[in-house]
Amino acid sequence: MIELRRPSAELLSSYLDMMEEFRANNEKVWEGTVPSETESSRDFLKRLQNSELHLSQGDVPSSVYWAVINERVMGRISIRYELTEYLIEFGGNIGYEVRPSARGKGFATEMLKLVLETPQTQKMKQVLLTCSPDNEASIKTILKNKGEFVRTAFVERMKRQTNYYLIRLS
Ligand SMILES: CC(C)(COP(=O)(O)OP(=O)(O)OC[C@H]1O[C@@H](n2cnc3c(N)ncnc32)[C@H](O)[C@@H]1OP(=O)(O)O)[C@@H](O)C(=O)NCCC(=O)NCCS
Repeated sequence: MIELRRPSAELLSSYLDMMEEFRANNEKVWEGTVPSETESSRDFLKRLQNSELHLSQGDVPSSVYWAVINERVMGRISIRYELTEYLIEFGGNIGYEVRPSARGKGFATEMLKLVLETPQTQKMKQVLLTCSPDNEASIKTILKNKGEFVRTAFVERMKRQTNYYLIRLS
């Protein structure tokens, strides 16, 4: 089954190939999830590998994982260990995506389960997830991992209706 691995040079080309798949599918590629114009591959990897410690302005400590089967990256998931007002309103503690060609096989459900089981996440009381009310696959992924619906609200800065869920851990 799927395995969560830390970003590495060995997996980088498969990861970047997944990001190309998002672009080809006209999906949003979030800033910071690909190398910036001035960033080398090495610096990009270092940034992802050290996201717990070396923070740029406005960042909170986080871990980034790549979900892998047979050395192929199928998805990415990141967990932020702290929340800012900005993240409470939109973004929450956890973000994830699955390669378009690998969807509907249970990978997101498994990735979220695995990230909730990591020792660092287990130290948290609860995690907040935000999601569009139209994103049926993500809503099911959250509910299957014991997510509790909290509320829905319009987020002005994103111009988006947003659902909020909590997963309690202790
Ligand atoms: C949301 C996303 C991560 C789901 O990934 P996935 O690997 O396809 O999800 P899973 O296979 O674990 O499916 C979870 C549930 O959603 C259902 N599902 C999957 N795709 C679906 C779709 N297009 N429409 C409705 N339900 C869907 C599955 O059947 C499953 O429910 P079930 O167990 O009751 O059958 C993926 O669609 C994606 O990357 N979307 C773009 C990025 C995104 O929206 N990220 C989340 C932001 S909150």
